[in-house]
Amino acid sequence: MQRAGKVVREAFSTMVAAAEPGITTQALDEIGAEVLSRHGAVSAPRLYYDFPGTTCISVNHQAAHGIPSQRVLAEGDMVNIDVSANVQGYVADMGESFVVGEGDPEQHRICRSVQEAVRGAIKKVRSGRCLNVIGQAVQRVADREGYRIIRNLGSHGVGASIHEEPSYTPYDNPHEERLLERGMVLTIEPFFCTGTQWVQEEDDGWTLTVPVGQLVAQYEHTLIVTDRGALVVTG
Ligand code: CO
Ligand code: CO
Repeated sequence: MQRAGKVVREAFSTMVAAAEPGITTQALDEIGAEVLSRHGAVSAPRLYYDFPGTTCISVNHQAAHGIPSQRVLAEGDMVNIDVSANVQGYVADMGESFVVGEGDPEQHRICRSVQEAVRGAIKKVRSGRCLNVIGQAVQRVADREGYRIIRNLGSHGVGASIHEEPSYTPYDNPHEERLLERGMVLTIEPFFCTGTQWVQEEDDGWTLTVPVGQLVAQYEHTLIVTDRGALVVTG
């Protein structure tokens, strides 16, 4: 799992470094694909869902599952890159939203906030605790910063495949009774939004969007639950 985590991190970092005004999302995807193939890794969305790309690249009001295309990135675009791959039978998954070029303070604030929420949630993870400690930690930051958490985009178990149990949405859910168990591998990946709580699917059958003009940002790590806390493999 740690090797899988390192490989997806390397692909992600290489893509972010290349994400400058003028590059197409297709070209970015090819950069990520090259890193994965060099490590013998296989794109998880392509492998498990026949996704028409190696990584998911979502721009502005696209929240997730954006298809790499001839779209040219511009200064001030908010981009989410999500990389997941199977590396010798182990699947790791990570993603992050960031701004191309300088952007504006509100774009940076939402990206920073969702990262803070995930980091806070990671600190609460420990075997034997309720899964909802994650949602509570995420909700605390969303409430304080005035964002809504997208309800129909889940975090999930991962490791042997891309989407496993437990499947959950990282908001404070008093009905959540499942426990974190030692050895459980899962993602924490809230999406913060300035408006809606629900994403909609576009006509391409993949891209999930919020209304134009709203900001949406995600941050995702894969971690292993231990008796002493979380072991983050995509760090
Ligand atoms: Co995920
Ligand atoms: Co992901």
